[in-house]
Amino acid sequence: MRNIYITTPIYYVNDNPHIGHAYTSIVCDVLSRYYKMTKNTSVKFLTGTDEHGQKVENAAKINDKKPQEFVDLVSKNFKNLTEILNISNSDFIRTTELRHKKTVKLVWNKLVERKQIYLGKYEGWYSIKDEAFYQEKELIKVDGKFQTQDGTKVEWLKEESYFFKLSNWQNKLLEFYDKNINFIKPSSRRNEVISFVKNGLRDLSVSRTSFNWGIKVPNHSSHVIYVWIDALTNYLSAINYPESFENEDYWRNSIHIIGKDILKFHAIYWPAILMAADLTPPKQIFAHGWWTNEGKKISKSLNNSIDPLRLIDKYGLDQLRYFLLREVTLGQDGDFSEKSFIKRINSDLANNLGNLIQRTLKLLEKHFDNIIPLKISELKNVKILLDTYKLVTTVQPKIENFEYNKALESIFNHIDQLNQFIDNEKPWESIKKNDLSKASETLSTLIECFRVIAVILIPFIPDSAKKILDTLNVDYANINFDKLNIKFCIKKGEKINKVEKLFPRYDE
Ligand code: MSP
Repeated sequence: MRNIYITTPIYYVNDNPHIGHAYTSIVCDVLSRYYKMTKNTSVKFLTGTDEHGQKVENAAKINDKKPQEFVDLVSKNFKNLTEILNISNSDFIRTTELRHKKTVKLVWNKLVERKQIYLGKYEGWYSIKDEAFYQEKELIKVDGKFQTQDGTKVEWLKEESYFFKLSNWQNKLLEFYDKNINFIKPSSRRNEVISFVKNGLRDLSVSRTSFNWGIKVPNHSSHVIYVWIDALTNYLSAINYPESFENEDYWRNSIHIIGKDILKFHAIYWPAILMAADLTPPKQIFAHGWWTNEGKKISKSLNNSIDPLRLIDKYGLDQLRYFLLREVTLGQDGDFSEKSFIKRINSDLANNLGNLIQRTLKLLEKHFDNIIPLKISELKNVKILLDTYKLVTTVQPKIENFEYNKALESIFNHIDQLNQFIDNEKPWESIKKNDLSKASETLSTLIECFRVIAVILIPFIPDSAKKILDTLNVDYANINFDKLNIKFCIKKGEKINKVEKLFPRYDE
């Protein structure tokens, strides 16, 4: 049995869910659904909310709420989004939960025991928005004031603080990256991280005293544990590790999928902290790119955030999932525009896939009373069938390599071929000529191909894929990729269901 652990970042509750959150969660969901459909694999899939820190404390104040009351409210919005997006997570963690606080303290104490933490004084720049410390060389000066390269405000902090001896881990980290070539993906990001680490690491301030909303440092309650140490530890809390080693195997096969903005925390701080606490780093970090809106960076000041709920309401969930996954290479930035969104879903989902299924099944309904006319061994046009089975082995490694858009490209190129097949075979003409045996063959072949295509599409557009499988009367409860072959194919004489419209067309 293979155990796999997939995680999203935990989302800050200072804001309402937007397209960035939806994107990260959907990207993880594809992988989780995919692995669940591979043989002998058990998947744990975690998401949740990051509820401590100065940023959240300030947001609660602005909303005139006590922090706990505020986080309870906003966390619910994220939980709802998870459900609306049809995310198949097995757990949802909140950093205000007891199970999490316990693990954070455990990790902190391990670092203290191993002399990796010391008390000192922090004096330097801090960004509340990023909850991050910056060196002056990382900042730029605008109108006489320092800010981050992204234009985020920073303030000068001077306070007593605990430090983590990050500087001691520079060489160990470089060795670790060297030995674990696939730890950071895509490789361009790996190079970025390595050069950052080679430039030298300073000890990391890991406690704050100027606000309250967080987990207190054990035995020193005027200090709150730095929110990133708190947040990163969620990945361990949810599997009750290292308190219990029962889930160690999941941990060894853990994949953190994150946005590129939080790579430094995951690829540098996190493995260093774990090694310092004598724990194993996760197996892999994959950083995806960012979405812009009609060419512009999404920001509060431009008020141009993209609301996933509005898009789902107007166009449907699988349409949104499909667009986000098909449009860009995972790892690169993408630009969202409603025009390209509509164009993409019309051409691929409504025309290419939906229309093909619709016209095939309508013929079956009208002329064969919805009964599958032939069995596989009676079909002569095996090339298209074999190509369809082969598609499974083409798509699998692409998903495992995070090449989702290439996987979808292969699937939809193949659907093009199926469209050509029906156009060449012209079953409607055979029917007109009363040649029902030829039409039987074309339609039975296509139905078998739809079965395979629908199963491959489950990780990407689960609702629609299941709708197709329901129409075809396929039991997908225990289906996995290894079963996508001739042995589990369509059955002659079986009645399938009436086809419903799958993907509406929208005005372009
Ligand atoms: N709380 C931290 C993560 C802690 S994980 C131990 C955090 N939260 S966040 O809510 O600000 O961001 C969550 C995710 O949304 C990140 O992966 C981030 O990259 C992603 N996105 C935010 N805006 C985005 C876009 N415009 N496009 C794509 N993803 C972006 O960071």
